Amino acid sequence: MTYLSPLGYLLGIEGAALLRGVREGSADRAFVETRIAEIRALLDTAALAQAEGVTASPGTISVTDVYRSWAPHYDAPGNQMIDIEQPIVRRILDGLPVGTALDAACGTGRHTTYLRELGHDVIGVDVSPDMLAQARKRLPDVAFHEADLHRLPLPDNAVDTVVCALALTHVPDLAPVLAEFARVLRPGGSLVISDAHLLVSYLRPTLARRPGPDGRPSLLTEHHRPLSAYLAAALPLGFQVRQCEEPRRPRHSLDPETAPDPLPAHMSWDLLHWCPEASAAALDDSPIAVVWHFQLDGVRKAGHLSGVRARSTSSSGGSSPSRTAMT
Ligand SMILES: C[S@@+](CC[C@H](N)C(=O)[O-])C[C@H]1O[C@@H](n2cnc3c(N)ncnc32)[C@H](O)[C@@H]1O
Repeated sequence: MTYLSPLGYLLGIEGAALLRGVREGSADRAFVETRIAEIRALLDTAALAQAEGVTASPGTISVTDVYRSWAPHYDAPGNQMIDIEQPIVRRILDGLPVGTALDAACGTGRHTTYLRELGHDVIGVDVSPDMLAQARKRLPDVAFHEADLHRLPLPDNAVDTVVCALALTHVPDLAPVLAEFARVLRPGGSLVISDAHLLVSYLRPTLARRPGPDGRPSLLTEHHRPLSAYLAAALPLGFQVRQCEEPRRPRHSLDPETAPDPLPAHMSWDLLHWCPEASAAALDDSPIAVVWHFQLDGVRKAGHLSGVRARSTSSSGGSSPSRTAMT
């Protein structure tokens, strides 16, 4: 069980601001004393002390449940992660040869749309029927399949490009999913991945949700990982790194003039307005995402894939990945 406390979150942000300021040399005496005074004031603020914490169970809500409620407004403006990730992914896609492209975990079809505009034949796959419904509305003539990243409904060597954006945090183990990407990619094909950065998990914690009729709070399990984890999964499959970027949050992304909610009722990222200076010191210019461009080694693919298949067959209890396109 995880206890999410508004006051605990703000004290954590103050602590992160102090530690980062000391590490980066920006924490002079005035900065440190201001943080300490602010911590005292936060502790003495009755509205925060009385704000209800939430005890939530990690792993008690599924990805499809989460995206069921998110799908209708997933594309609404103001998603900072998307604002930062999208231009980088697009720049990589702009440089790739046009062919057949898979948007793996396509969601509402954000990158599918762009791939189509670039002239690719596109296929979208996602596990959430609600996200796919939005994607189909947006691109009615594109083939979207409801399927899991672990079992892509495509034959071997079917695509020239795979894009997998902001989805791998939902996957407990990268290796079998990247093996699926390698399987469906043609030799020399490109894999473009974006994902939330490990630091995001500390500075912007997952919020509790109340999914079921029993109303019990739940936490979606997310898997934030160090960069070495992507390399450990990708390199043995014959992927080579072409590009890796860790875009940062902009400075001053929190409006210091926004008044904090005087009576915070629950844990929310809006709480950061209670301590804008500390929030800026902790979060501004910190890596928010990682974007990778891998390219599959054309020459070595055949040998690698036989090993991949053997491993994924044994680890999935003997069933082999689907090789037939769904219709
Ligand atoms: C944050 S959204 C990103 C959607 C889209 N790629 C984008 O960047 O706009 C994450 C998506 O991953 C999908 N997803 C998560 N785990 C998945 C899995 N194992 N197989 C297929 N899709 C999955 C979710 O349903 C959701 O649509």
